[in-house]
Order: sequence, then structure tokens, then C-alpha cells
Amino acid sequence: MKLAVVGKGGSGKTTTSSVIARTLARGGLAVVALDCDSNPNLGISLGVGDEETERLVSMRQALDEGEESHAPTWDTLLSRYGSDGPDGVRLAVVSRIDNPEPG
Ligand SMILES: Nc1ncnc2c1ncn2[C@@H]1O[C@H](COP(=O)(O)OP(=O)(O)OP(=O)(O)O)[C@@H](O)[C@H]1O
Ligand SMILES: [Mg+2]
Repeated sequence: MKLAVVGKGGSGKTTTSSVIARTLARGGLAVVALDCDSNPNLGISLGVGDEETERLVSMRQALDEGEESHAPTWDTLLSRYGSDGPDGVRLAVVSRIDNPEPG
């Protein structure tokens, strides 16, 4: 199952996303949360913590500035750019790919 949460600024996207993710994870499902917001603070709501959330945001910034390379596979992305919250939700702060290359 894949869920995307979108909406107007301040409408509760981050809060709703974290409640859904944490509830599903507590129920035993393997949950991956991808924060692609321009102001990524899902890690705070997921309980990952300020410092760790900031670290993930910095890595995305480095990617966007070309200082880091994109992960070639989904597993690598989650291990390299992800972090676990207290309920077992795996969070990754992700970017977009402007010029995708084959593979
Ligand atoms: N169901 C709710 N009832 C009351 N307040 C809520 C509810 N959901 C979220 N809020 C509050 O509304 C504010 C905005 O919530 P949130 O940060 O989740 O929105 P957002 O859509 O992610 O905002 P942004 O566009 O800035 O990323 C927060 O202060 C949050 O605590
Ligand atoms: Mg938000």
C-alpha cells in the first residue's frame, strides 16, 4: 500500500502523515515514510529527533547541490539516507531527480 499526503500549507499534512505511519508501524506493518516537503520536519513528528532530522535534511541538501550521489537502488537509499523512529517507521528525506539517466 502506498499513501501520499498532499494539501495546502498548514493543513495538517505532517501531523496526519506521522499519525498514520506510527499507527500502522505499531500494528506490525513495515512502514517507510518519505519526506519530500520543501520544509521537511516529518522526522520531528515521527520521533526521530531534532538532530537526526537535521542530519537527514543536510544530506538531501548535499544531494541537491551535487555534493553527494543519488542512491542507485531503493535498499541503498533507505540504508544510506534513512533513519528509524521509535515506533519502527523508517524515514528518508528525499529529493527529486531532475535529469534521470537510464537505470
Ligand atoms: N487534526 C488537527 N487538529 C488540530 N490541530 C491540528 C491538527 N492537525 C494538525 N494540527 C496543527 O496544525 C498545525 C499545522 O500542522 P502540520 O504542521 O501537520 O501541517 P502541514 O500541512 O504539514 O504544514 P506545512 O504546510 O507548513 O508543512 C500544527 O500546529 C499542528 O499541531
Ligand atoms: Mg508539514
